[in-house]
Amino acid sequence: MKAAIFDRFGVPEEVLQVREVPLPEPGRNQVRLRMLASPINPSDLMTVRGEYGSRPTLPATPGFEGVGVVDKSGGGLLPLLRRLKPGRRVAFSSTAGGAWAEFAIVSARQLVPVPDDIPDEQAASFFVNPASALVMTQYVLKVPPGEWLLQTAAGSALGRMVIRLGKHFGFRTINVVRRREQAEELSRAGADAVICTADESIPQRARALTEGRGVKYAIDPVGGETGSAVIEALGAGGRLLIYGTLSREPIAIDPRLLIVGSKRVEGFWLSEWVREQRVLKMLRLSRTIRDLMRAGILTSEVGATFPLDEVQKAVAQAAQAGRSGKVQLRLG
Ligand SMILES: NC(=O)c1ccc[n+]([C@@H]2O[C@H](COP(=O)([O-])OP(=O)(O)OC[C@H]3O[C@@H](n4cnc5c(N)ncnc54)[C@H](OP(=O)(O)O)[C@@H]3O)[C@@H](O)[C@H]2O)c1
Repeated sequence: MKAAIFDRFGVPEEVLQVREVPLPEPGRNQVRLRMLASPINPSDLMTVRGEYGSRPTLPATPGFEGVGVVDKSGGGLLPLLRRLKPGRRVAFSSTAGGAWAEFAIVSARQLVPVPDDIPDEQAASFFVNPASALVMTQYVLKVPPGEWLLQTAAGSALGRMVIRLGKHFGFRTINVVRRREQAEELSRAGADAVICTADESIPQRARALTEGRGVKYAIDPVGGETGSAVIEALGAGGRLLIYGTLSREPIAIDPRLLIVGSKRVEGFWLSEWVREQRVLKMLRLSRTIRDLMRAGILTSEVGATFPLDEVQKAVAQAAQAGRSGKVQLRLG
């Protein structure tokens, strides 16, 4: 079978190669999937650069999530219990990566059967962004209806999900973007307020929107100057979740800003949150994601798609500023 492989960390389009490798055999409680599609997420690109929170042993195949069809079960109780028969279409996310290949080995625990009415292109992004958007807003911050949530990189796939979750659960969103044309696009997509960092100040606008109080809830995947400005926009009791490193720059914090009003800045990493949860809670989360995906709330706008052989073009496109939609690999 063919797989995208990197032998050293570096610029993704330079270090990734598509190579012929032996067909892997599933172990007990694992299944082999014939892959259909997998998105190119920022975490995949950071992994190839060696800049992600966990580093794989090399050589490695990237791809933390995707959709495929069960090809072979390795036996054990879990595939039986979860009715993972050959032919069943399933979505998965795996901290081990491996989705950018014609076949992938996945633990039966990490699979979610996909109903027929969810297309491959949506099922491919079933977990990473939908679960993070839902968990940060509803399980961790628990943003109450009517409250403001400020988010940066609001035009990202995850940011757009947060805007739709706001409409669904009744909280209001202040959306920070870096390009004016994206500000207009997000307003049309239901954003309650948009701040464009090209010509506006995050703390000033946030205070104006909240009658001088500042925001109580914020999420930031950018860091650097943008992250520092979000801290300035927090009001008394404000809480900021930092969940990404898009600018690759550190955040500067004036300690007085946190002391006055007892504000909190915390990190959020989905894989660590998941590790703390019980099986039943994860099953309920998967069902909620499925329902919200069907309702068009936790969906991703898909941009360019590429075959596995063109993985270098795909990763170059995914790393471009101002692109529209998630870049996907079509593997099947
Ligand atoms: N911690 C977790 O568990 C977790 C889970 C899921 C996702 N994430 C993180 O969530 C973020 C969004 O992921 P995604 O898949 O939704 O991304 P995406 O669809 O690929 O979009 C990336 C967005 O980030 C913006 N951006 C990139 N660099 C920026 C910078 N330096 N300053 C401001 N904006 C910048 C881009 O803006 P332009 O359109 O202007 O180029 C684009 O809108 C990523 O950082 C990802 O790692 C974290």
